[in-house]
Amino acid sequence: MKDLLRTEHLTRADVDLILDTASEFAANPLRSSSALAHKSVAIYMTKPSTRTRLASESAVAHLGGTPIFLRGDDLQLGRGETIQDTARIISGFCDALIIRTFAQSDVDALGAHSSIPVINALTDDDHPTQLLADWLTIRETFGADIQGRKFVYLGDGNNMAHAWLIMGAIMGAHVVAATPSGKWAPDATAIATAKLIAQTTGATVEVTHDPHAAAKEASVLYTDVWMSMGDLESEKSEKIRELAPFAVTNELMALTETDSIFMHCLPAHRGEEVSSSVIDGPKSVIWREAFHRRTTIQSLIYHLTRSEILGRASL
Ligand code: CP
Ligand code: NVA
Repeated sequence: MKDLLRTEHLTRADVDLILDTASEFAANPLRSSSALAHKSVAIYMTKPSTRTRLASESAVAHLGGTPIFLRGDDLQLGRGETIQDTARIISGFCDALIIRTFAQSDVDALGAHSSIPVINALTDDDHPTQLLADWLTIRETFGADIQGRKFVYLGDGNNMAHAWLIMGAIMGAHVVAATPSGKWAPDATAIATAKLIAQTTGATVEVTHDPHAAAKEASVLYTDVWMSMGDLESEKSEKIRELAPFAVTNELMALTETDSIFMHCLPAHRGEEVSSSVIDGPKSVIWREAFHRRTTIQSLIYHLTRSEILGRASL
């Protein structure tokens, strides 16, 4: 597989390989410090980023390459140059492209027209690199045997909910998304994709609108901001009202397993999707999770640029 455009393109073997190498990079960040010597990686973002940008730039540096950060309207793409022409130029100058933007179709098109690996660093629909850090955190916490464990996302049925269900399906897990019904439920196509993958991995994919039933005996409660980048401010008060029952509070955490953890991709809004006592409490693993962003992205770039990610033939 040339690119990582969508979470669903990864197999369990790909994820295991990426996480194994990420653990090696955690022990020795400079293990492959000449892998990208004299090479450059473009990082193009039309939405803000703290973690993904810092993780990507430092990952490229640790591989001996030069990160070239391009923000929103830095490129002629914003002034009407085509994706095809842009892809050809970036492919000529750089050895990989990391992109964060709105439309998944733009990322897919850049992948199709580039000769170099293209990595999705978040779209409105998906966030595959986040899930690599999340599953490294989960694997470290619970080991490889996750039978009988339940992994629960609560909140907006957004890009993170989609990626959570699909990656959980790839990993053979019992994954749950607890969201409001209607406008803020996960997209039907993401649910269908997760269920299709689950048929081959033995995973269980569940979507519910009952936060208490979801949290009961869970090993992980995961949440995300209620207002994502690009969401309509005009819908904010309605959205917050609908999402309020899905806030991760001490009451919900009390329903979970004794060895449960709390996860969040960050940025967080304390007092909205999670209470301070949970996110800053003893079950929270948010900092370990955030710092896994670098080693997992470092590993992903390393393996993609060596054509070592096989990917899924088709769904
Ligand atoms: N979790 C995450 O993607 O954070 P940033 O938006 O800060 O990159
Ligand atoms: N759902 C959030 C994730 C941020 C990492 C957003 O898209 O803004």
